[in-house]
Amino acid sequence: MRAGVVREGGLDSLSPDAVQTLLAVPADGRPRTIHLDDLGDYRVLVRQDADRLGITALPLHNAGSLLRTLALVSLGLVLLAVLAAVLITRWVVVRALQPLHRVSATATQVSTLNLEHGEVQLPQRVAARDAEPTSEVGQVGHALNHLLTTVESALMARQQSESRVRRFVADASHELRNPLASIRGWAELTRHGREDLPPTTARALERIDAESARMGVLVDELLLLARLDADQELDLKPVDAVAATLDAVTDARASAPHHQWLLNLPDQPVEVMADPMRLAQVLANVASNARKHTPPGTTVQVEARVAEPGWAEVSITDDGPGVPVEIRDRVFERFARADAARAHADEPSTGLGLSIVKALVEAMGGSVRLSSEPGRTQFALRLRQAEPSS
Ligand SMILES: Nc1ncnc2c1ncn2[C@@H]1O[C@H](COP(=O)(O)OP(=O)(O)O)[C@@H](O)[C@H]1O
Ligand SMILES: [Mg+2]
Repeated sequence: MRAGVVREGGLDSLSPDAVQTLLAVPADGRPRTIHLDDLGDYRVLVRQDADRLGITALPLHNAGSLLRTLALVSLGLVLLAVLAAVLITRWVVVRALQPLHRVSATATQVSTLNLEHGEVQLPQRVAARDAEPTSEVGQVGHALNHLLTTVESALMARQQSESRVRRFVADASHELRNPLASIRGWAELTRHGREDLPPTTARALERIDAESARMGVLVDELLLLARLDADQELDLKPVDAVAATLDAVTDARASAPHHQWLLNLPDQPVEVMADPMRLAQVLANVASNARKHTPPGTTVQVEARVAEPGWAEVSITDDGPGVPVEIRDRVFERFARADAARAHADEPSTGLGLSIVKALVEAMGGSVRLSSEPGRTQFALRLRQAEPSS
């Protein structure tokens, strides 16, 4: 038997253990991997030809390192391919989505517009190249353009109908003034001779007198609201809020001698940006409410101060029964007033006063807040200071 291991220098003899291991491999001509203690892993083929046993064993350590290198190279190639695929896909996707970005930019632009009121124009459209219905994105762009056109014409129609209604209310209120003035004039004329009339007739004339006065207020308030709705500009200039408050309270106090009025006003003027006539109207409205909607003996506290830099606050607080719960949440809405029966008989109550207060204060850049519970009702008006004290 001849057994040896081929090395660079020639043939080396095999250890007896290695020979034993090799001889133990079945001679069936099928390749197997075995481990020879001092030589490492070998791929062995044992073949029995007639009386000769041929054992061929090839070392695997070279093949192993080759395989490892091959695996590393493949891994590197796979990683490179993945990276290239990612980059290419990204590029393709970004390119393909560019039109979609432009479409969404148009939609975003439109969403920032104030479409709530006033004249509305929607000049924004998706560019023609992004609105070709031949591609998916183009279909979206096309649909968006169609939607914008529809919305624009709907808004225009709404605006036209709103201005028609506003003009109608303004015209109607204006037209009602003359016949109303003449009814009031005639009713007033009967005041003197009423004691000579039968009681029912006298009572009827009294009611005509009172109701025509109420209607006069209603018509004036409706006209004012219609004008405010038409975004009529107010003539804003510096006005002393302290003096204006004092005037309003003096008037209210004159017609409510049984209320107690407490004033807490600063010695210095507090200049606010306001339309003097309209500010007087606002303050008169809130002050007269504190008088009209509370029983005699109610205490009304009136305060004016600089609430925070740049803002003045006038608050009118009474300890009356409070704004009725059923209208508390919508007291600034038009025609919000408590059950008419509660109103004092000879005090015209229209339910428009506070909606005018709100509209006017907001037109002057300010705000009005109500907090009301039985025993404490406060209306606080906030107005922009003319020259903020630094
Ligand atoms: N200080 C107040 N205390 C209690 N209720 C009030 C007060 N101010 C307003 N209200 C309630 O809010 C309603 C709406 O007020 P307003 O809009 O000024 O209309 P009007 O004074 O013509 O009734 C009033 O009818 C009244 O019921
Ligand atoms: Mg009122």
